[in-house]
This record gives sequence, C-alpha cells and structure tokens, in this order.
Amino acid sequence: MIANDNDRTPPGDEPAGAAADDDPTIDTGSLALPAGPRRGGFELLRVLGDGGFGIVYAARDINLDRRVAVKEYLPSTLATRAPNADVIVAAPSARPHFEAGLRSFVNEARLLARFDHPSLVKVLQYWESNGTAYMVMPLHAARTLRQRLRAGPPPNEAWLRALLWPLLEVLEMMHAEDCLHRDIAPDNILVIDEVKPLLLDFGAARRVVAGLTQSLTVILKPGYAPIEQYAESGTMRQGPWSDIYALCAVMYLAIAGRAPATSVSRAVHDDLVPLGTLGAGRFSPSFLAALDAGLAVRPEARPPSVQALRDRLFGNRPPPTQRSFKVTFRGIEPAAPPPPDEGAA
Ligand SMILES: Nc1ncnc2c1ncn2[C@@H]1O[C@H](COP(=O)(O)OP(=O)(O)O)[C@@H](O)[C@H]1O
Ligand SMILES: [Mg+2]
Repeated sequence: MIANDNDRTPPGDEPAGAAADDDPTIDTGSLALPAGPRRGGFELLRVLGDGGFGIVYAARDINLDRRVAVKEYLPSTLATRAPNADVIVAAPSARPHFEAGLRSFVNEARLLARFDHPSLVKVLQYWESNGTAYMVMPLHAARTLRQRLRAGPPPNEAWLRALLWPLLEVLEMMHAEDCLHRDIAPDNILVIDEVKPLLLDFGAARRVVAGLTQSLTVILKPGYAPIEQYAESGTMRQGPWSDIYALCAVMYLAIAGRAPATSVSRAVHDDLVPLGTLGAGRFSPSFLAALDAGLAVRPEARPPSVQALRDRLFGNRPPPTQRSFKVTFRGIEPAAPPPPDEGAA
C-alpha cells in the first residue's frame, strides 16, 4: 500500500510514513542523505528510521510516480558518509565486516522478495551505488506496533488475535522454507489501518555486522530474543520456537505494558509474572496460557511450531476477519469484556 491521505490517525500523532512530503526535517545529525537528490530514479523525501545499521527514507519513485520506502545499508560503526554522498568504510580493517553486512543486506532483500504475503513487507527493487546498497519497499502510512501501543487504548483480545493470525501465517510460510525471522519486535511490525500487521526487517545486516564487531547486547533485542539466540548449544538450537518466543514477548508487551525481562536473566532467575496472572479478567485464560507457553525460557517447553501455537491460541475458532475485528475494536473504548473462553487448553 502506498501512503494515502485518508489515514485516520488523529492530528499530532502521525504514522511514520504519512507525514507531509515537503517536511524538511531530514535528520542532519545522522549520516542520512539530504532530502531531494535523485538517486537511482528516487527522490528522497525524509528519514523514517535510522537504526545505526541502515537508514530508511520516505521517497518518490520518479518514473512510476509513487511513494516508496528506500532502505540504505550504512552501519555507522564501520562506515561514514563522504561529502559526495558516497558511503566510505572507516578503516581498511573494517572492510571485511562491511562487506559481510552488505552480503546479508542483499540476502535479506532476496529473502523478502522470495515470499509473498500481505503481512510481510515486499521488496520492489534493489540496487548498489554510492559504495553501498539500497532496497525499495512500498511506503506504508502506518505506525509501528510499539508506537500504536503507546498511543492507543490498551488492546483487547480481539485486536491481538486479529494481529496474531496473519503474523502466524507469515512465520509458518517462512519456517516451511527453513527460514527464521529472528528479529520479531514491536518496532519491526507496522500496524496498517489499525488492523493489518506488516512484518518488517529481519535485522540480518545488523546481526552480521554487530556479531563481528560488537557485543550480543547490541545484536539482540532485549526482552524479545530467546535464550538460544544468546548462546546456541546442542540442546538449545534455534528453530521455529525461537520466533515463537519473540512473538509471544511482543504480545507480553501489548498485554502487560512492558517487555518481559531478558531471556538470559530469566535463565538465571525467572521471576516473570505470567500473563495468566497479569491479564486475568481481561483476556481468556487459554489465550494467556498459550502465550505464556510460548514464553518458556527453555526452548523445548515452548510450542514447537506455529501450528502448535496456533492450535493453542485459536483452537477451533474461525480466523479473525477484518470486519469482526473492526466492530470489536470500536467497542473497546472503554475495554470490552473478555470473550468467552473457547480456545484449546
Ligand atoms: N516500508 C515502510 N513503510 C513505512 N515505514 C517503514 C517502512 N520500512 C521501515 N519503516 C520505518 O523505519 C523503521 C526502521 O525500519 P527497519 O526496516 O525496521 O530498519 P532497521 O530496524 O534495520 O533500522 C521502522 O521501524 C519503521 O518505522
Ligand atoms: Mg527494524
């Protein structure tokens, strides 16, 4: 979806992709390119995100006259911006790390291009220039789930179920191809039109670059990364259960208002208050129990597959539809009573 002007977001709380295109607030403090110049047929409009490993710009595809998001590979620990806009590697010793990150940036673009699902961001184009690489995506007029949770009323079960279903579909599709996302977090999920989740980046370049040069705490999102992403071992391999942990941790944030403690600290001393306690009375017990199971510290204690998690979360319920959700969503301000508990154990 291209940014549209009909977004229902209240004034003063604009979603990332929806601000005015003539907004001159390019973040000059960062390494971001200035607004305006045409690069590879794209006019950069403003910065949407700058995570230290890449910069995401709102842009206009000049040839097709449509809005897009352009992501530039630029790991700020390894490279900087020359006055001519080229990305230059800071030191010869950083070159192999920069190249490794660049390869994973390309791989991520290829991976995203391989899958087709309405809740997974699409890659429209990829090119290399300026000593770095660029990935073009549709520009979504949407807030991240993190922003949405901060701004809106507390979510209810119907809304979370409506988000979960398509996210589970995306993960199942990826896992079927032996591909893990590994970076599910509230700032990597956009919420479009209040109801449609869109999974963003795999953080692949960040993982590779930081893995070569920095500590694990930089690579992993505290609270969302499962224990096996800190230290993979024979008994603690990464698998579908790793994405399941992260997804359930995102749901924990939504329900509890804070992320769970890091999985490493939980492995030493686990005093995480379960959702079964925190959400009691507001959410059905089986829904909370399924999320708590996905948040087990030990990988083998979690539902092993998306199918297993979905069975626990949804049981025999029909998939949530946009329509049923919208009706429910309007009804949650103030919060709606919890739906009847009809999920599987
Ligand atoms: N296609 C897009 N449409 C709108 N906003 C986007 C899009 N892609 C990314 N963003 C915004 O930019 C931020 C950073 O993008 P992301 O792909 O997660 O990169 P990284 O986390 O590596 O910096 C996101 O959190 C989101 O706010
Ligand atoms: Mg991200």
